[in-house]
Amino acid sequence: MKKRVAILISGGGSNMISLVESMGPDHPAEPVLVLSNVPDAAGIAKAKAHGIPTAVVDHRPFGSDRQAFETALQTQLVAAAPDIICLAGFMRILTPGFIGGWRGRMLNIHPSLLPKYKGLHTHRRALDAGDDEAGCSVHEVTAELDGGPVLGQARVPILPGDTPETLAARVLEQEHRLYPQVLRRFTDGEKDLLTH
Ligand code: GRF
Repeated sequence: MKKRVAILISGGGSNMISLVESMGPDHPAEPVLVLSNVPDAAGIAKAKAHGIPTAVVDHRPFGSDRQAFETALQTQLVAAAPDIICLAGFMRILTPGFIGGWRGRMLNIHPSLLPKYKGLHTHRRALDAGDDEAGCSVHEVTAELDGGPVLGQARVPILPGDTPETLAARVLEQEHRLYPQVLRRFTDGEKDLLTH
């Protein structure tokens, strides 16, 4: 039996596509759901084009009631019965209670070399700090935002004249390589750090 993977997105879903395309016939996992909190996320159309079941749980009607949003999210996830959840450009902060229900089974990709630059605007912060390198991290999701055990990292140089946009594009290329590699290892039960 293949491991069932649900992927949560909020936008373009380029990481989701990399993950979906990495799960070929010989892969021990398969994508069973792509879910977005944004109804018109471009990633939903891309998932449909790949024949992956999709769902949308629009967070806006729930307002500040995070609990109610997560109850709706959980309903969709329980129906898909994933073994692993991959957050891939998913821009909602999840409560410790929700995360606890998926402990040890939820991954996220973050566009920095954790533990540096948790949170948002990671590339701008790296540039402002005068760093000479940046990168991305895949980590297990825990109650601490961007704080879970890091399973993989990829580094890129920061070049003269870089802007947050040029740096983000260079990091994104590495995200598309790293996340599928870490997912494959995670599916096989390997948790030692992968770096490249
Ligand atoms: C990526 O930079 C990812 O690191 C962050 O969201 C951005 C967009 O990802 N979490 P995608 O193209 O929607 O996968």
